[in-house]
Amino acid sequence: MKVGIIMGGISSEKEVSLKSGEEVLKHINKTKYEAIPIVLHSKKEAIDKLSGIDFAFLALHGRFGEDGTIQALLETLDIPYSGCRVLTSALCMNKHLTKKLLASENITTPKGILIKASEPLNSSITSTLNYPLIVKPNTGGSSIGTCKVENKTDLLSAIDEAFKYDEELLIEEYIAGEEITSFVLDGEVFPTVCIKPRFGQFFDYNSKYTINGALEEIALLPSILQDKVTQIAEKIWALFNCKSYCRIDFIIKNETIYVLEINTLPGLTETSLIPQSAKAKGIDFTTLIDAIIRTSMI
Ligand code: DAL
Ligand code: MG
Repeated sequence: MKVGIIMGGISSEKEVSLKSGEEVLKHINKTKYEAIPIVLHSKKEAIDKLSGIDFAFLALHGRFGEDGTIQALLETLDIPYSGCRVLTSALCMNKHLTKKLLASENITTPKGILIKASEPLNSSITSTLNYPLIVKPNTGGSSIGTCKVENKTDLLSAIDEAFKYDEELLIEEYIAGEEITSFVLDGEVFPTVCIKPRFGQFFDYNSKYTINGALEEIALLPSILQDKVTQIAEKIWALFNCKSYCRIDFIIKNETIYVLEINTLPGLTETSLIPQSAKAKGIDFTTLIDAIIRTSMI
């Protein structure tokens, strides 16, 4: 079977995607699959480059990768691909809509509001939300363009910065708690990983992609809390109709579990979280890639 490992792309997470792609290429079972690295630099070249493969392993992240667009193209070309389908990908890429759907099922997320570049800045941000705040591109990833702010001056410059990456921003109350993440494979929730960033004030780009940039280990949560995390992850998997795999990010503060977001094509780089979670369950990266391919084709 010819497996195209699709990487690069046009989003701000291109560099991360190239690293994910390299790792997949390095570890994919080459006796079982004919691995073909496919680096995309534009949307247009995708049709030519994708033709002739039997399966597309998506090592892309962000816009035109994780947002349902390349998934729709692959559906049109009738090429099987890894991970979530079109609607789930599009929905989870939009952090604000994700929060709306979570709230409709009484799943807790940090208090937040959406602002748009096309509309005057809502002066009620600071009366609705309490500092510190986190400013994020609404459809971003890897914390690119994301800032934690403590006051109005910093808020305005963080908004300017984040608008470089997206026309919509999510401004959320910062939850000072423990960051954890759950990898879900085919509906099964893997050991929870807790994250202690070594740099910066939150799990930012540097902490995410520098070797030893964060202390990441299997979380030893009290069993009641662990059960709750697992239940929420299972509920989200079903609610968003996920397929094959995803990673759900949370913050826990005073035993309240806040869902931050659902990543439908989570990072597979050397420092990424899901290979570590799989390893804790005795699943090496080669077996994990195999499982992703198998469960994507069911
Ligand atoms: N957006 C990055 C790749 C992640 O969630 O791992
Ligand atoms: Mg993300």
